Amino acid sequence: MGRKFGYFCSSKNYKMYRSHTCGELRAEHIGQTVTLAGWVQRSRELGGMTFLDLRDRYGITQIAFNEEWDASLLQQARKLGREWVIQIEGEVIARQSKNPKMTTGDIELKSLKLVVLNAANTPPFTIEEESDGGEELRMKYRYLDLRRGPLQRNLMLRNRVNIEVRKFLDAQGFMDIETPFLIKSTPEGARDFVVPSRMQEGKFYALPQSPQTFKQLLMVSGYDKYYQITRCFRDEDLRADRQPEFTQIDCEMAFVEQEDILATFESLLLHLLKEVKGLDIKSVPRMTYAESMERYGNDKPDIRFDMELANLNHLTRDLGFTVFDQAETVLGIAVPGAASWTRKQIDKLTDWVRRPDIGMKGMVYCKVNEDGTYKSSVDKFYTLEQQAGWAKAAKAKPGDLILILAGEDRLTRKASSELRLHIAEELGLRDPSVFAPLWVIDFPLLEWDEGTNRYHAMHHPFTSPKPEDIELIDSDPGKVRANAYDLVLNGNEIGGGSIRIHDRALQSRMFDLLGFTKEEAEKQFGFLMNAFEYGAPPHGGLAFGFDRLVALLGGAEVIRDFIAFPKNNSGRDVMIDAPATIGDVQMNELKLITTVNTQEK
Ligand code: AMO
Repeated sequence: MGRKFGYFCSSKNYKMYRSHTCGELRAEHIGQTVTLAGWVQRSRELGGMTFLDLRDRYGITQIAFNEEWDASLLQQARKLGREWVIQIEGEVIARQSKNPKMTTGDIELKSLKLVVLNAANTPPFTIEEESDGGEELRMKYRYLDLRRGPLQRNLMLRNRVNIEVRKFLDAQGFMDIETPFLIKSTPEGARDFVVPSRMQEGKFYALPQSPQTFKQLLMVSGYDKYYQITRCFRDEDLRADRQPEFTQIDCEMAFVEQEDILATFESLLLHLLKEVKGLDIKSVPRMTYAESMERYGNDKPDIRFDMELANLNHLTRDLGFTVFDQAETVLGIAVPGAASWTRKQIDKLTDWVRRPDIGMKGMVYCKVNEDGTYKSSVDKFYTLEQQAGWAKAAKAKPGDLILILAGEDRLTRKASSELRLHIAEELGLRDPSVFAPLWVIDFPLLEWDEGTNRYHAMHHPFTSPKPEDIELIDSDPGKVRANAYDLVLNGNEIGGGSIRIHDRALQSRMFDLLGFTKEEAEKQFGFLMNAFEYGAPPHGGLAFGFDRLVALLGGAEVIRDFIAFPKNNSGRDVMIDAPATIGDVQMNELKLITTVNTQEK
């Protein structure tokens, strides 16, 4: 009774089952008798010997069995299958042929005693660094996939970042305060997941898209530095960097201006880059939203490489080439060293920009030859001097290739930005070991939505306009800039926030602008506006996308494998088979089936 199982890294804590972990033994342990426990990754038979790779989350240790040492032990070892859980006692000996690729590669264990703790079915895929299992199968057996080195390293990194964030924020005086999961909807732009209430018939809770309103209320309550590493829920289409439930490092501060927030969270990011990646980055550059759209065509530019978008409008129009003449915007990108690309390579890219998700009709190219001449697909419309003008505008050097897209401004800018990233990816310019953070600031407060024919909040409705732009709210709302900012890392939005409105009248005006009636605004956000009348301090904050941040620190842009139990591309958990139907009794209890329907069944 009362056996204690340790969970800690130090071997002192779990003397019962094991004296060391499978990643711990080195040459200095030679001669010691130790006990390991773990999973059999693979075994190799060599004449009268068998070698087992024993694995736990700390590493792999080779175990040797020899007919000459103990024939019956060898027979026992030969009965073991992959992923059996065993305990092994043995003597640490020097390896005949060392393996420099393994941290334990200098030694092996000369087996003395073997205990099978649990047998295992043959796993449906190999549990090694590289698995032979397909995506869907590995998701179904996620608990097996999680035994693999790459996933274990990802989760260890996640844990490490979590601890570093807490250490940093704690040292700055932030308090971790939990906020509820069963709430009323917060409008952050996505759909809510809803939960039916049993006790309040016909009513629903919503799961928080973020703790936004609660953290603002905490500021009113006087907890002037709040944070929480918390789950958020958004019913939106999945992408590589989006999950329906994801984690934010959610922060809020009172008695601050934008500068205080930028400085605090810039320090947090730099602290993480230093502690986790060993990188010494001194500061994070800033760019306005307007400049980012102009130079990169999007609001989360990857600034690890150049290839900025050059506006060629005035250098291409009214010279007889109808496509450019009729285009609202003509943009060029100089691809370094690509003048030597073949026709076939360029055609392939042209097909790429014509894909429906990119949406361009075609692409013009202009080669800036090493000898100072130009060769373009529109030679007959433009002189060499005119093409030289394009090269100058796009900062193209001899040997570069200028790619030009033209059309409606928004579409062309977006397509050029995608083309820039696509080419950078192909040229290997998106190096995951290089980190280039950037603040994008001065976002517009509102965004016109053609679909609903009204303004939407670009960040969220609680974001404060810049004081100097407030006078435009009535005359030209689309021009009003917000005290809102995003933190971008290598072309990914890893965080966003704003200074908030803390005044009832302004908040109410904001809801007007967003098309809420007075009654709707009162019904949905009366609690917040009322709180503003009981001494709300100036406040603001930000939330990091924790999964994205960890993935990027781990050298990836897909967040799924940095989450222990993620959803698949259609939002399903194929392991537990969720979402699923519920039985009639539960449906009835929640009043989700009317009595009439139940009787009809
Ligand atoms: P926002 O909606 O910008 O702001 O979210 C903050 C950060 O969360 C990450 N993120 C996601 N990560 C994974 N999957 C998703 N579906 C997903 N959606 C967002 C992004 C994003 O930058 N309450 C505000 C913050 C504030 O104003 O303080 C908010 O939630 O990295």
